[in-house]
Amino acid sequence: MYINFWYPVALSKDVTNEKPVQAEIMGLNFVAFRDTEGKAHVISNTCVHRGGALGRGKIKGDCVECPYHGWQFSGDGKCQVIPTNPLDVKPPARAKVDAYPAEERYGILFAFLGDLPAEERPPIYDIPEFGKENWRSNDIVVFEINGYYQRSIENGMDGAHNEFVHPLQGAPSIIENLRKHDIDVKDESEWGCGFMFAASGSTSEDTKVLGAGEGRTVAGSSIHGPNTLITRINFTEERGFAQYFFEAPVSDCKTRIFFVNMRSWMLDEEMDQRIIDINMRIAKEDIDIIEGLEPVRTPKSTAKEVLTKADAPIYRYRDFLKMWDDRGWRIDWKELQSQRGDVAFAIPCPARRTEKNWVLDPVPLVKSVDAKPKLKGVAS
Ligand code: FES
Ligand SMILES: [Fe+2]
Repeated sequence: MYINFWYPVALSKDVTNEKPVQAEIMGLNFVAFRDTEGKAHVISNTCVHRGGALGRGKIKGDCVECPYHGWQFSGDGKCQVIPTNPLDVKPPARAKVDAYPAEERYGILFAFLGDLPAEERPPIYDIPEFGKENWRSNDIVVFEINGYYQRSIENGMDGAHNEFVHPLQGAPSIIENLRKHDIDVKDESEWGCGFMFAASGSTSEDTKVLGAGEGRTVAGSSIHGPNTLITRINFTEERGFAQYFFEAPVSDCKTRIFFVNMRSWMLDEEMDQRIIDINMRIAKEDIDIIEGLEPVRTPKSTAKEVLTKADAPIYRYRDFLKMWDDRGWRIDWKELQSQRGDVAFAIPCPARRTEKNWVLDPVPLVKSVDAKPKLKGVAS
């Protein structure tokens, strides 16, 4: 799990000026709320007075009020009101919590959980089809799985499981093509990579039901950052799906996924539910696999797996993770767990780079670089 990326916190529609929303991401708690102007904020959930959970409190005007002694924190994380102080005494400078850059896109509130200045931050993945004519998205689906997010992302980058996990969707020629051709994984930006692959040969049951027609199906996946997965399925030039999975690791064995499905056909609103039903049936097939994987998290060494050339996209994803390890962005999960009963941690926010006087400890990060980055490509 990595600091310095954007994570989905809540659906925009659930973030109000009425009631705070608490969300656990990477083992830490955050609170989201809207101020009186409608702007959404995400701040650390732990009140620096004596540890109250702000997400269990109330919203008072532009602030969230701690349920314990009523201290009020505004969207910039600063305490504005300490009820027991004389009215003319300002709260001390230390009375502040981390406040994170927050942005709403696609109906999702994202928070940048890290301390990088704006110009160094990776972007939220830009969905090119969103809001475009001839494309439609159905309502965002949010679901949780009892699995590690990295396993989930790797599953999305894996073309070889299709026929086995999704028998109604799979076309036998995927395996045929994988046998004959290497997957060409290309870097798409500084923050990720992807591939497209021919899956022609037969029309799957799903596409028959939906009337996609015979065509040359091309499918592929990409990653952006550690926690965004994109899959594209083009049945024909005009008919396709583009699916976006914004994943929030809740812990090392639980993941919350915000799923945006775009389609360039069946644009009638009444098709939305049918598409959601089929997508969730397919997702359930994946979840059944992911929740059964051992170890729960990805093994530390590839000597504990037997990877083949069809696993090339997984290798490349891991190369990216390694790069972010080397920047010192990986959370030291074991250390966090061993101390958490005694220490309240926060992911450092950008203001920590310029201001002092922070009460909560910054989350422990893995500092060491243990090996040189792996080269592209794998043995067959
Ligand atoms: S613990 Fe939050 S006001 Fe006391
Ligand atoms: Fe799958």
